[in-house]
Amino acid sequence: MKKTGLFYGTTTGKTKKIAELIKKEFGKTPIEIFDIKNIKPEDLLKYDNLIFGTSAWGIGDMQDDWEALIDDIVDLDLSGKKIALFGLGDQKEYPESFADGLGTLYCRLPNKENIVGSFPIEGYKYYYSTAEKDGKFVGLVIDNDNQAELNPQRIKKWTTGVKKEFA
Ligand SMILES: Cc1cc2nc3c(=O)[nH]c(=O)nc-3n(C[C@H](O)[C@H](O)[C@H](O)COP(=O)(O)O)c2cc1C
Repeated sequence: MKKTGLFYGTTTGKTKKIAELIKKEFGKTPIEIFDIKNIKPEDLLKYDNLIFGTSAWGIGDMQDDWEALIDDIVDLDLSGKKIALFGLGDQKEYPESFADGLGTLYCRLPNKENIVGSFPIEGYKYYYSTAEKDGKFVGLVIDNDNQAELNPQRIKKWTTGVKKEFA
């Protein structure tokens, strides 16, 4: 059985809440979840599949704990692992940098061919997002501030695809 680790960074707890909903959606498929501020970068190496989650702060910044660890994480050899990403943002307050933490995280990861779990941009309203590549988001995008009612269906849709990629 492949091992999946989910690592999230959160400032006000929203990304943690989404991480827990993703874990629930994995059902019987085992997955371990961690706040990135409590781990050592090498801990990522224990898993075959990785899920990374970050919110967006500043303009284009990942959540602070990701900003603190990312230089060490990109030095690890993560080739051979599948990686799925999710990001939180606020499309109403930050329509010109919507979910840019996710875009920055994607941009920093060296092996783009290992990244799975893109997500449709339909249903969101924003001007610009670095998380959008070739007409899709590079991972699941959640706007808990304005569209929390859509969280369950978005998480279910994305997790269903990611579980297949990870199998
Ligand atoms: C000061 C501040 C800056 C933010 N910057 C952005 C941004 O640039 N883009 C965006 O989509 N959301 C932005 N957000 C919204 C947060 O990413 C969003 O509320 C997220 O759900 C917070 O998740 P967390 O509590 O897990 O960290 C910002 C929020 C605050 C308070």
